[in-house]
Amino acid sequence: MQELTPETITGAVLDQMSTTTDPRLKQIMASAVKHLHAFAMDVNLTPAEWIKGIAFMTEVGKICTPARQEFILLSDTLGLSALVNGLHDNTAMEEGTHTSLLGPFYREASPALAAGSQIAKTVKAGSEIVLYGHVSDVNGRPIANATVSIWQTGASGLYDIQENAAAIDYRGVFSTDANGLYLLRTVRPIGYSIPMDGPVGDMVRAQKRHGMRPAHIHFLVGAPGYRELVTALYLRDDPHLEDDVVFGSSGDLAVDIAPKDADCPIKGLPSIRFDMRLSRETAADKAGGRVGADPSAILKQPA
Ligand SMILES: [Fe+2]
Repeated sequence: MQELTPETITGAVLDQMSTTTDPRLKQIMASAVKHLHAFAMDVNLTPAEWIKGIAFMTEVGKICTPARQEFILLSDTLGLSALVNGLHDNTAMEEGTHTSLLGPFYREASPALAAGSQIAKTVKAGSEIVLYGHVSDVNGRPIANATVSIWQTGASGLYDIQENAAAIDYRGVFSTDANGLYLLRTVRPIGYSIPMDGPVGDMVRAQKRHGMRPAHIHFLVGAPGYRELVTALYLRDDPHLEDDVVFGSSGDLAVDIAPKDADCPIKGLPSIRFDMRLSRETAADKAGGRVGADPSAILKQPA
């Protein structure tokens, strides 16, 4: 009979899992077990704390619906999503525009809109802006017919699906023209709180964090032969640019709203210009599937 102690249990688990045939699964699970055991040893985890952790993860799972992905929110607020994005950027063939968070609110079912369209169904006076920019390769050569998917919150600080799971608003899919230009109208993004009425909100409050994200607009950009880009622009003058609760805002993604921009294709409105550079696709990118997976696909609506 083997002697299992806190010092020998990790090796026993790794031994038993050593028959895993998928090499990547074997590597990931062995590392996860080693770090999980080291964490429990480090904090001398008690049975009461262990069950509290299980209860927390159970609550995170229970609150998930097709419209709400609390596990992504947990990953985001722990900085794991930003870390994974940084690791992904490090594997790019060329240095394109940096990645930012996909977040829980991207949806594939967004309307394809003509250049210059307004993505908001209702626009409060004074809130309308133009958003435009060029999609190019890393050498500045324009990429025509790139798909530019955009989503953001409305005036309430909520995404459409937070207010009504079936609603589609403040989101759209555009194509770049022959010069790589995308162009649309939207409303000024405003900073907002992440959902605080679930277990992740309880955690953030217990840590005395504010739960705020700086004003931003999400982008998912794709073109054949290029690495799919999931990113966001952030308003430079937002007070939470430096302490985003999900660690998405990063210096080179900060932009300003220009009151007048002579280069803007639509005149008479304030505008944001956000240019993006795509790295060429590697064989691993091609094999790895989409970066911007729709979170609602994880949990389908019950029939
Ligand atoms: Fe967001």
